[in-house]
Amino acid sequence: MDGLAKAAVSCKNVVKVYDTGGDKVVALGGIDLEICMGELMMLVGPSGCGKTTLISVIAGILDQDSGSCEVFGKDLLHMRSSEKLKFRAKNIGFVFQAFNLLPSLNAVENVSIPLIINGVKRQTAERQAANVLEQVGLGTRGKSLPSQLSGGQQQRVAIARALVHDPRLIVCDEPTSALDHETGHNVMELLRQVALHRDRALVIVTHDARIFSFADRIAQMDDGHIEKVVDSAEDL
Ligand SMILES: Nc1ncnc2c1ncn2[C@@H]1O[C@H](COP(=O)(O)OP(=O)(O)O)[C@@H](O)[C@H]1O
Ligand SMILES: [Mg+2]
Repeated sequence: MDGLAKAAVSCKNVVKVYDTGGDKVVALGGIDLEICMGELMMLVGPSGCGKTTLISVIAGILDQDSGSCEVFGKDLLHMRSSEKLKFRAKNIGFVFQAFNLLPSLNAVENVSIPLIINGVKRQTAERQAANVLEQVGLGTRGKSLPSQLSGGQQQRVAIARALVHDPRLIVCDEPTSALDHETGHNVMELLRQVALHRDRALVIVTHDARIFSFADRIAQMDDGHIEKVVDSAEDL
């Protein structure tokens, strides 16, 4: 990367320690990581190595203890909370490991949320939400509540919600964990398209070796550190 190429995400010496009273857990022990514009970065590593913590810091959901993490040149840690909420709502789409859908809202309403937060009128928001649901193969399930959907369908609603407001950074925690091979493949093709065509950036935590080939680079974590960053799963 030359000096002019813009980083979408730039983490420098990011440290996060969970203090649960007695025990201190060093979840991130000084992370350096750069994700470029237009790049799909995967993050892999054993359970408990700090993947969810790292993407939560990147997305501004969790504050690190030290170090800096800039997203499109902005340091979220030092933003006022109202400014940070606005920045996140506009620029970041996040797919939670447990989906985090609102149980009393149907699929269209869940997917509309980021647009509503950004001030889009309800009718327009719901139309756009229905379009993205169509793209993830759920065109006919817009009126279904989360409880009426399978795990895989709920996961695709969560993915649609992360894409609907056309964010510049999309952060996904195990986005194919509940999907069969073909559906997972289709979802990854959609995510890949978003990354490349619109000059966005994606960071995807995954255990799913079947989707490694969609990555531009793969960062391997272990015990709160980035062990290595490679161009292909063969180099892991
Ligand atoms: N809220 C929390 N309170 C205390 N410890 C936590 C908390 N969240 C995660 N941890 C611990 O931090 C470490 C990293 O967790 P996590 O980021 O969830 O890893 P991964 O996503 O790679 O499985 C683990 O040891 C985990 O037990
Ligand atoms: Mg995790």
